[in-house]
Amino acid sequence: MELDKAIQSRKSVKKFSKKKPDWRKIIEAIDMARYSPMAGNLFSLKFILVSDKEKIQQLSKTSEQEFVADAQFVVVVCSNPSRTLNAYEERGDNYLKQQTGAGIQTFLLKLEEFGLATCWIGHFTDDKVKNILKIPKEINVEAFFPIGYESGIAKTKQKRKIELDRILYFEEYGKSRMVKV
Ligand SMILES: Cc1cc2nc3c(=O)[nH]c(=O)nc-3n(C[C@H](O)[C@H](O)[C@H](O)COP(=O)(O)O)c2cc1C
Repeated sequence: MELDKAIQSRKSVKKFSKKKPDWRKIIEAIDMARYSPMAGNLFSLKFILVSDKEKIQQLSKTSEQEFVADAQFVVVVCSNPSRTLNAYEERGDNYLKQQTGAGIQTFLLKLEEFGLATCWIGHFTDDKVKNILKIPKEINVEAFFPIGYESGIAKTKQKRKIELDRILYFEEYGKSRMVKV
């Protein structure tokens, strides 16, 4: 799939069909995330592939989002902050968040290329997720991703995206006009 197409067709899907994805494709998408930029090339992310129905049900409960339980798999993205914080001290927290986003976007684009559907879940109780998946206390739970195929019956519409001229400035913040270069 062309890069533009993957970027533009990605969308949050909350209605899944019963068809089970090949777990190898999900692993391949996680594998792609390894190529994401990381401060000092210190890779901070960990991915947990969850297929157990009971655990998926519990993750759905802690997110207070029922559709999560309909997914065939959930990938939980965690970060181990220690090396980045050691290297960059107070800037490290900022870097960790930024590189988590970079890694997740790479993962999402590869899922998109495979025709797999997901939705970024950021609302959950950290301690409950840690408990369900035996995640050590020093590890951060960043987000999780219910994965399946989009239901053919209830297709999600692409969301309207913000216009370029509302996010782009030239030379200084707030300056919307490009000077001749
Ligand atoms: C940090 C973050 C947290 C999010 N948490 C949730 C969530 O808990 N539940 C949900 O339904 N969507 C969640 N989303 C998905 C956004 O609502 C969605 O990306 C946004 O509405 C744009 O839609 P799109 O993904 O289809 O482009 C989250 C997205 C991000 C980046």
